[in-house]
Amino acid sequence: MSLHRPKPPLPSDDTRWKLVNATMRRNGYADHALIETLHSVQDAFGFLDETALRFVAASLDVPLSKVFGVATFYHLFRLKPKGRHTCVVCTGTACYIKGAGVLVDALRAHHQVEPGETTADGALSVLTARCVGACGLAPAAVVDGEVVGKLAPEALLERLDQLEHAKTAPAPPPRARAPA
Ligand code: FES
Repeated sequence: MSLHRPKPPLPSDDTRWKLVNATMRRNGYADHALIETLHSVQDAFGFLDETALRFVAASLDVPLSKVFGVATFYHLFRLKPKGRHTCVVCTGTACYIKGAGVLVDALRAHHQVEPGETTADGALSVLTARCVGACGLAPAAVVDGEVVGKLAPEALLERLDQLEHAKTAPAPPPRARAPA
């Protein structure tokens, strides 16, 4: 019989952890919820990183080695993000009503990428989630871990362009040295 250990704190205030936690809570933090929980991490974040695996292991009171084992055994789990940037479009009810579909369409038209895929140049992975916990900001998306709400398609595309340019912009020239 296992003792009820206190649950670890969420790894950060990223609202997607609440979704992961909700999956575990719904299953009474039982260890048989491991695969479903890992799916929920991947749905929310697009991949499983070490922080997530440690958090899930501690929450379900399962050895970390077992969590790594399951995460690496099943090919459908990814341990790394594929794209340089990740955009998770919320397609939960509130966001759907407010136009999440238009956001997905805009990404499809502008970046030629379907949800669950990465652009051919490796710049952007697009995912969808059922609710990212920001319904008051619908339609919302999580761009590189940051929730952005009340999104028009143009604003989303512009934000993604800015991110990519910020990454690829050349470094500013070194400052001229003052004459001695
Ligand atoms: S339905 Fe989109 S944030 Fe909740």
